Amino acid sequence: MKFFAQPLQIGPLRIRNRVILAPLAGVSDIPFRRICRELGAGLTYVEMLSAIAIRHRNKRTRDMMARHPDEDVLGVQVSGPTPELVEEAVAFVDQRSFDTIDLNMGCPVRKVVASGSGSALLKDPDRLTETVRRGRAATDRPFSVKFRLGFTRDSVNVEDTAERVVREGVDMFTVHGRARDENYAAPVDLERIRIGICRGRETADGPLVAVGNGDVVDFQSALRMREATECDAVMISRGALGNPWIFREILEERTAHPTLEEWGDVVSRHLSWQEEHYRDESLAAILSRKHLLWYIKGFPRNRELGAKLAGIESIGEAHTILREYAAQWPRDLRRFEGPLSGESRFGPSSKYDPKYEMDRTHDRGVGALE
Ligand SMILES: Cc1cc2nc3c(=O)[nH]c(=O)nc-3n(C[C@H](O)[C@H](O)[C@H](O)COP(=O)(O)O)c2cc1C
Repeated sequence: MKFFAQPLQIGPLRIRNRVILAPLAGVSDIPFRRICRELGAGLTYVEMLSAIAIRHRNKRTRDMMARHPDEDVLGVQVSGPTPELVEEAVAFVDQRSFDTIDLNMGCPVRKVVASGSGSALLKDPDRLTETVRRGRAATDRPFSVKFRLGFTRDSVNVEDTAERVVREGVDMFTVHGRARDENYAAPVDLERIRIGICRGRETADGPLVAVGNGDVVDFQSALRMREATECDAVMISRGALGNPWIFREILEERTAHPTLEEWGDVVSRHLSWQEEHYRDESLAAILSRKHLLWYIKGFPRNRELGAKLAGIESIGEAHTILREYAAQWPRDLRRFEGPLSGESRFGPSSKYDPKYEMDRTHDRGVGALE
């Protein structure tokens, strides 16, 4: 059986394959997760939840915990500034319908770090250990952590972090191969991921799942991640934005962009699910704009199309605009393969840096508490 298509055991949880959709703040809502799941994602996560927002029973955070009946497996990720808050948050989400719980130790967002959460933990190994210990003890579900190589490029401590979290009994860890101070244009450091995974395996006295993350944008890059790091699974982030077909490509070991018809079906379904999920027509349209701009990458005349889609006020309007443009495209057109499209945003050298968007998303999410 093809490597990534093999099932994966995470503690007591068995998932159907080894291609995971990352928790993506502002992106991994129910409609997007369903699309990725339909196209093969073995595990998906809700958007990162702040332990502070959980304590305050923040409404948006409550909404983010919803699970669709089609989601047969679902993970949650929490972040928190103190071991106590993380313990409380893990105990809280443990009572909800999640199959696995992850602790974020990699988020670079300004306010998250200033509060002592996310990648700030990488600067304080004792607090990191205590936080993982308390989180681990608060649930019997599979418990995992996601971290970066270090807080800065000059203070890479991936081996120490891997050893510490494994000693505390995590079932899985994910290494994002960049330091917090590196922007997303810097290529991911596969060798350092490998070193971290190696140390984790040496430390473990039971089963451990190690996941590689960063710059996986197609089957070739997934294979490179697997071969260079010996990871058990890959976690996809930017590579899935506008390209949920990436899961199918990796599972089937081929890189082929969808036909125009398949592309249209998936985009329409995503839009319909946005409408169904958010109920409010205008909100659904606003939240669909960024997805649409990602979906049209690699098509001819997409600048003009993008300008139209960026202003949609309803999902119906988006359907009309897309139909109008697609009608002018040759039926055998494929993204990134047409003569007019030399551009690719999915390449590993992608300049797309989500940090500012993540800052904004986060500010919206916890704004009510400040
Ligand atoms: C829009 C966006 C939101 C993200 N939100 C989260 C998050 O909530 N939790 C998390 O652990 N990582 C988050 N990340 C980081 C990714 O999971 C991943 O570690 C990073 O993008 C590197 O992988 P990539 O090169 O495949 O994109 C986010 C990334 C993006 C682009």
